[in-house]
Amino acid sequence: LASSEVDISSIKEGESVTVKWRGKPVVVRNRTAKEVEEAKAAALSDLKDPIARNANLPADAPATDANRAAEGKENWFVMVNVCTHLGCIPLGQEGSFGGWFCPCHGSVYDTAGRIRQGPAPENMAIPVYSFMTDTKIKIG
Ligand code: FES
Repeated sequence: LASSEVDISSIKEGESVTVKWRGKPVVVRNRTAKEVEEAKAAALSDLKDPIARNANLPADAPATDANRAAEGKENWFVMVNVCTHLGCIPLGQEGSFGGWFCPCHGSVYDTAGRIRQGPAPENMAIPVYSFMTDTKIKIG
């Protein structure tokens, strides 16, 4: 399928779901207020990869939390859950930044999916997506 629709109405705060899109796992996470605050608090100068890697934005957009989260709905976070090191699937709600942890070689991502520690070179990718309604997302 070129695109995938996801009903997000049952994803509670602090939870996430994973759907398959173009053969890849895409995670939709309903971030807690604390997770959003932690992501916003990160200085760009502290990020290993300062680029947003968000297919919905220009290629050079900076990796602020606003440029990684859903526009106008900062709790919602949509991301291709594939480690940018060698392609393993990082585990959610894990790691010292509370985002994702890759068990293959120890890359640590924050609650905006940005690489913070370990060998991965880039932030995990944000796919093209849009909100069809308040409770439905179209990926792709
Ligand atoms: Fe994730 Fe190597 S594949 S750290």
